[in-house]
Amino acid sequence: MKEQIMMDNTQVSDTKKQPSSKARKRHLKVNEINYSNNLESDYTEKIEALEKSFDYDSNSTCYWSKPELSIFYGTPLYQGASEAQKLALNHLYWVANYDHTAASEASTVHYNQVTAGVFSQISDSYEALCLNLKHEAEQEKFHIHAFQNIGHKTKTALLGKRVMGIKLNKNSRYKKSGQLKLVAKLPEGVKSSLGSSNFQYNSLRYLSKLMLNSETYRYSQYLQDFDKKGEPLTAIKKGYVGVAIPQNLVQFFTFCWGSSPFLACQYYAYRYAGNAVLKNYEYEYSEYFRKLEKDGKCTSVPQTVSHYHFLDESFHTTTSQLIARDMYKDFGKPTTSEQVIANVIFYLMQSGFLGGLPGGLIGSFVDESLIMPLYYRILRSPVFDMSAQDALHWMEKCLCHEHEGFHLQTKYHQRAMKNIGQLASSLDYLWPINREMRIMASGGSISKAIANNVKALKQFSKIAVV
Ligand SMILES: [Fe+2]
Ligand SMILES: [Fe+2]
Repeated sequence: MKEQIMMDNTQVSDTKKQPSSKARKRHLKVNEINYSNNLESDYTEKIEALEKSFDYDSNSTCYWSKPELSIFYGTPLYQGASEAQKLALNHLYWVANYDHTAASEASTVHYNQVTAGVFSQISDSYEALCLNLKHEAEQEKFHIHAFQNIGHKTKTALLGKRVMGIKLNKNSRYKKSGQLKLVAKLPEGVKSSLGSSNFQYNSLRYLSKLMLNSETYRYSQYLQDFDKKGEPLTAIKKGYVGVAIPQNLVQFFTFCWGSSPFLACQYYAYRYAGNAVLKNYEYEYSEYFRKLEKDGKCTSVPQTVSHYHFLDESFHTTTSQLIARDMYKDFGKPTTSEQVIANVIFYLMQSGFLGGLPGGLIGSFVDESLIMPLYYRILRSPVFDMSAQDALHWMEKCLCHEHEGFHLQTKYHQRAMKNIGQLASSLDYLWPINREMRIMASGGSISKAIANNVKALKQFSKIAVV
């Protein structure tokens, strides 16, 4: 097995083309400009100040975005909702999406360091890239704090303490996976509870080394530091990585992203998809903010935070695109093992992060079963004050039948797919199923989404306490 892998790696390595140093210089120059522009901006500082000024009561009477960015928008439930309930659904949409964003950005903090630890070993000319990645990670920490603080205050005001006590049956997979939480926690360092399984951990590390052992192997300095301290890495469970990749595989892929310059670059194709999904709805917040400002109307703190985050993230999107689309070519042609790993990661990303079409949460493309606990909570909360049976009844009406929300969602889906597809189509190492975004495309079917929801809601009804 080892000999076969090594032989494959050598074969491809022998035929690899030497990247042009002119192209490499150009990529590094683009990074320098992007980094410099980011340093000169003050959007993060603005987000920090806004967050400190937030209290829910002063922001509770207006919409934070156009109404379509509301949970259950376009469903029969939304049509019959009172104005106060519609406002709450609009605010809870912000909370739900930025809860996910906070978790995703916690992953970014981690993976920026994992990959910078690879780039830093290539040559001094990658120093500015590493500094940029470090700076982005610092910005994300402020973003995460703002999202969590605003989200927590809003959630507490709207859902109250009573709903926090709602229980699902013991042993439910929702409970086990922690998906009932609306607001993400910062990662608890990067120490792992999986440390108990040292054999598995070391095996995954060994396997990654075996598969990637070629002349380009560079084991991340960041990962080396953990090894020296004897601390195993945690597997990120939430956000855009955790939602799509099983926990043990996340650890394996972390070693991969942290061992090879090509795969370190490939992580940014994943990150770009996360940027694109966020931008897909955050752009709407920014536009709404600009319009209110132009009309001299009052703006709420959360939408203003979204606006500045949209601007801050534009630098991060540029970084993702630069590394994923261009810079990977600077390290020669990938080995067979690297290509397989990159394609498996991209495939899993498509399936788990981009493969669904939720009818109640426009702009998210995960499997809607993952959002069902959140819907249930909202319906049982003081906002709707439904009994368990009524909550399940309305979930069936909203998730298992065609309605306007599904149709609007397909527009968001197409826009995101076009954006991510532009990058994917330029990546010559991807298999056709990935390069043509076939999994995401097939997930864009309303009838398929409804059929999945019918099955998932049946399961959910069994574990929800009635
Ligand atoms: Fe961010
Ligand atoms: Fe970011």
